[in-house]
Order: sequence, then structure tokens, then C-alpha cells
Amino acid sequence: MRIKVRLIGTVCIALLEVCAAAAAGAQKLAATPPMGWNSWNFFNGRVTDKDIRDTADLLVSTGMRDAGYVYVNIDDTWEGERDAQGRIQSNSKFPDMKALADYVHSKGLKLGIYSSPGPTTCARFAGSLGHEEQDAKTYADWGIDFLKYDLCSYIPIMRQEAPNDEAAQTKLMREAYEKMHQALLKTHRPIVYSLCEYGWDSVWRWDPTVGANLWRTTGDIQPNFDRIMLIGRAQAGLAKYAAPGQWNDPDMLEVGNGKLTHGENEAHMTLWAMLAAPLIAGNNLPQMTPDTTAILMNKDVIAIDQDTLGRQGDRVYAEGPVEIWTKPLAGGRKAVAIFNFGETESEVSLHLKDLGLSGQVKARDVWAAKDLGEIGDGWKTTVPNRAVVLLVVQ
Ligand code: GLA
Repeated sequence: MRIKVRLIGTVCIALLEVCAAAAAGAQKLAATPPMGWNSWNFFNGRVTDKDIRDTADLLVSTGMRDAGYVYVNIDDTWEGERDAQGRIQSNSKFPDMKALADYVHSKGLKLGIYSSPGPTTCARFAGSLGHEEQDAKTYADWGIDFLKYDLCSYIPIMRQEAPNDEAAQTKLMREAYEKMHQALLKTHRPIVYSLCEYGWDSVWRWDPTVGANLWRTTGDIQPNFDRIMLIGRAQAGLAKYAAPGQWNDPDMLEVGNGKLTHGENEAHMTLWAMLAAPLIAGNNLPQMTPDTTAILMNKDVIAIDQDTLGRQGDRVYAEGPVEIWTKPLAGGRKAVAIFNFGETESEVSLHLKDLGLSGQVKARDVWAAKDLGEIGDGWKTTVPNRAVVLLVVQ
């Protein structure tokens, strides 16, 4: 039997037992949800080499790198023309991609890049269609560690090739993602593979089969609380599809962007941690406020997201604007997030059996950084409007 196992720096093609032994000894790619920063949410098409270098410097000096934010991901608009051999070039905003990768690596960080299975990206720059192996090799030569692969212009191709046949269209889509998966494997470089097809065709059911480490489950996020929570709450029920090495991705963080309030930023960060979502910040680091820094770098919240059990949380209770989500954590602990999405503050009583708990439990209020001692059934808390109370209980 021939099987393929994705390993750090190697492709294992051998007998099942041999591969399994080798895999056990290797560090799994994206064993916990990937953490880092991506250029799109703040810079959109304006991102330059200098922005990436400045971001890398700031990830180090703010302590974000040491808190876990290690991927620096260039989103759309870095692409230039192909040369005579068809090799993709970066455009004038990115004069030397290899030098940039070397710089990012010298800071103890990793570099991510972006492309599309179609002929062009969403911002109409060159995509990878017909150049998959060549592009994967170029990325590996540059030292790329993460690829976001965005469906975009492949959609019209699917429709053209299989008119009025949705099943055939989605088959073409899966094949296109598998093609890049195979191209990445051929490079023998550990490149995190991030699918972006907005959750079509219940992507969580099939994405691991095309080697994806994370997959977008929704359309694009925006820096406003209603959109963020619409996306986040729509993740209910997807927990069973997440596991070490393969994560649901409700899109990148907007913490610190737009006009989000302190409570809204905390609720956003909390929900993403409860979802074991990739924590890919998207803010402008040179202008990061102390409040945004504290929220993005709260070690206890990050620990919930990165918990070694690798289990995504889910909603266990909903009444009007109040929702309670729980996430199992290693060591028999549980994170409990009490959200108030409404416009006025709300008093909430915890019913421990809704949370799968009974008797008295030891609780810590995570954002308040305060041990609450033992709490029992009927424990009450007041949750401000558009905000959260986050507990870890045991
Ligand atoms: C799509 C993706 C975004 C971003 C843009 C870039 O909209 O969903 O995250 O990558 O394309 O053009």
C-alpha cells in the first residue's frame, strides 16, 4: 500500500507502519491553530515590502511573536508578471521576495503568501492556474511557510466547464485544491495550506482530504461587530470537523480595526479562541493601542485557543441576545464564554448542567484575571452590552 504523510521537510511514501512511526516523531504542521498576522484586513491592496518588514519588527518588539503570532502573511497584490519561463515574479511593491523571507526568518518568524487556483486573484493579479507546480516550487525557493489559496477567478471556470451542474463544479474545485496540495508536497517544504473558498460545498467535510490545514468557513469579515458576530455565531455545529492539523477558519481577526469598542474586541477575541480558530491578526501594528495589544496578547485567552486537546468549542445555550459557549480544555478544564450580543447589559445565571457540570466548580474570570473561588449552580454575573464574560472552570 502506498500512502503519503505530510511531514516537516519530507514526503513519506512507504508502508503504513513505517510512515506512522515517522509521523509520530515529526512535529505536526499546524498542530494548534496557526497564529500570526495578515496584510489584508488593514492594508488591502496597499501592502508593501516595508509594511511587512515593519510588521515583523513590531511582532518581535511588542512581544506578539513570543505570544505565538509567528506567521507574517502577505495577502493579495504582491504578484507581478510571469517571466519567459512562466515563473511568477513579485511586483514593484515587493522588489525581492527571497530577501524579504530571509529578513522575516531572521526575526524568528515565518512568511506566508497568497494565490488562487484561477487565472487571477480576487484583486485581479496573476493566479496559479496552469502553473501550480512551478509556483509551489518558487514559493519553496523563496522560503515561504504558508499559502492562502483563494478560489476567486476559478469560479467562472467551474461554471463554464460544468454549466448548471453544481456537483461537477464542486468536483472541479476539489481537484484544483488537490492539485496545489500535490504541488506543495513535491517541494518537500512544510508549507501550511490555507483554503479560502468561503465555506462552499460544506468545505469542512472534505478539506482535510486535500491536505488543508485550515479552511475558511465563511465570506469575508469586516471590522464591525455585527458582521464579526454573524460569522462567529454561524460556526455553531462545526466543532467536530476541527482537529490538530486541520482547523475551521472563520476569517482573520479584526481586533484593533475599525471602531470596535473594548468589549467588542474582547468578545471577538474570545469567540475566536473558543472556536480554536486560527488567530491571524489583521491590524496596523505601528498604530496599535495598549488596549489592542493587551487583548491580542492575553496569554490566558491565547492558551484557550491553543489548548493541546485541539477541540473546538460550541454553543450550549442561547436565549435572546445571550449565548453561552463552552470549549473542553486539557486537564479536565473547560472554558465558558457568556456573550451578550444585545444593546443593554444582561444578568445571566449559569446552569451548570447546561455546561455538562455539577456540584461546585473552581472558576477563574479570564479577562478580569481574577480567581472567583468555587461557584455553584445559579451563579450570577452581569454581562455588559456587546461584550463577554469568560471563565475557565474545573
Ligand atoms: C478574498 C478573500 C480575502 C482577501 C481578498 C484578497 O475576498 O476572502 O480574505 O484575501 O480576497 O483579494
